[in-house]
Amino acid sequence: MEQSIEQTTEVLLCLSPGEAADLKEGINFLRNKKTGKDFILYKSKNRVRACKNTCKHQGGLFIKDIEDLDGRSVRCTKHNWRLDVSTMKYVNPPGSFCQDELVVEMDEENGLLLLELNPPNPWDSEPRSPEHLAFGEVQITYLTHACMDLKLGDKRMVFDPWLTGPAFARGWWLLHEPPSDWLERLCRADLIYISHMHSDHLSYPTLKELAGRRPDIPIYVGNTERPVFWNLNQSGVQLTNINIVPFGIWQQVDKNLRFMILMDGVHPEMDTCIIVEYKGHKILNTVDCTRPNGGRLPEKVALMMSDFAGGASGFPMTFSGGKFTEEWKAQFIKAERKKLLNYKARLVKDLQPRIYCPFAGYFVESHPSDKYIKETNIKNDPNELNNLIKKNSDVVTWTPRPGATLDLSRMLKDPTDSKGIIEPPEGTKIYKDSWDFEPYLNILNAAVGDDIFLHSSWIKEYFTWAGFKDYNLVVRMIETDEDFSPFPGGYDYLVDFLDLSFPKERPSREHPYEELSVSPRCMATAVHLLLLQSG
Ligand code: FES
Repeated sequence: MEQSIEQTTEVLLCLSPGEAADLKEGINFLRNKKTGKDFILYKSKNRVRACKNTCKHQGGLFIKDIEDLDGRSVRCTKHNWRLDVSTMKYVNPPGSFCQDELVVEMDEENGLLLLELNPPNPWDSEPRSPEHLAFGEVQITYLTHACMDLKLGDKRMVFDPWLTGPAFARGWWLLHEPPSDWLERLCRADLIYISHMHSDHLSYPTLKELAGRRPDIPIYVGNTERPVFWNLNQSGVQLTNINIVPFGIWQQVDKNLRFMILMDGVHPEMDTCIIVEYKGHKILNTVDCTRPNGGRLPEKVALMMSDFAGGASGFPMTFSGGKFTEEWKAQFIKAERKKLLNYKARLVKDLQPRIYCPFAGYFVESHPSDKYIKETNIKNDPNELNNLIKKNSDVVTWTPRPGATLDLSRMLKDPTDSKGIIEPPEGTKIYKDSWDFEPYLNILNAAVGDDIFLHSSWIKEYFTWAGFKDYNLVVRMIETDEDFSPFPGGYDYLVDFLDLSFPKERPSREHPYEELSVSPRCMATAVHLLLLQSG
């Protein structure tokens, strides 16, 4: 059945003529008392611009930015992003995002209306009502990290296979021991979805194993501006059936199964998420998206899965000097993880899936050189998130163990069914306790010997390639050994990101200043990427 779907308009705030006349020049913070929703209006002469008081990053609330003497910008209370409401552009991060504006209309009596135009949701096109599912018809098996093996009728789909080797040079390793038949599972998949190019999702060591057995396995990725497989040729992995699909359009697999890839609102150039629908039952996998599909997502899906852990970056653990004391770092990590936990819990509460599963966060910095990071860069606990969700909603939660299988039909019918989730057999190894570091380290070590490191100009080349500038920040890069002690005779230099120069001394203007300890292998890997990118 085709259903016509149209754009809808919603009135979010109504100001009486008196309230509209009382708006002051510049920034106005207003709340709709009925809905509890907050808005920012910027008045300049006779023009009013308006937006929701919701940060594009992770939904934080904006307040007046006391450092802005022009009275045009607001500051997010969560992570300090700044928004210039006179232009509706974010100024920190610079040149980054635009805030979605609301339509401002005057009514006949000079009252003011804030309207939101809602385009139709792409997943509502050609809607399908949920049909009966037999027990065992839809089974979801967790393998590792962000990798799920989905049985959907007689089709099999796998998400983000990272099942062997490290990710991010030698930074991340699998926390969970994958089921021993993982390669057979990958080989029998009808399709594989890879959400983005990060190596814990696009794992070449894993794909190499798979390509050795099934080079023609159909792989699907979104049509991101930065192609997911930009590095395929240099990787040496032979895959012959990579399909790049447009965003927001159903991809029909067979009469019962279809999927749709959506982009991230914060990193649309590279991050994606997916909706899989089987016989009208939706599975939403938001993967690593910070603001999946700009915050517009299907509600009441059968199963939702998302990241939860935090701790992906080495910040601030590799920083020292200034405010970066051990105590400051510990406090920062604690506060950031809590914010992320609350954000995820809030998202789940708003979307009300029947079942929720936290995943894509099961990694560990297990190489001995990263001991300090492993011990201090604490991740969120999936059980803590699930408990928070259960406290505030009726959503059923699942903390997956490798090889565990969720039977969707049973769980939808009765979440207490003892066969709803089949755990791995007693005695199955859940956590990895050894990793095969050597072959991967040999490759990285070889990169340190590249000719380019004989010439100090590679530093400038690297930062120019990275392209981050016009920002009042000075960073001191200190080359260290694997224990973060300064490397004798190693690089030690300043980068001024305002004009991307490399001064001998810190500039005399006021500027934020940070020190970054970097091991040669990390820089070598970064430069290696640069070389690959530039061909
Ligand atoms: S800066 Fe606003 S939510 Fe992170």
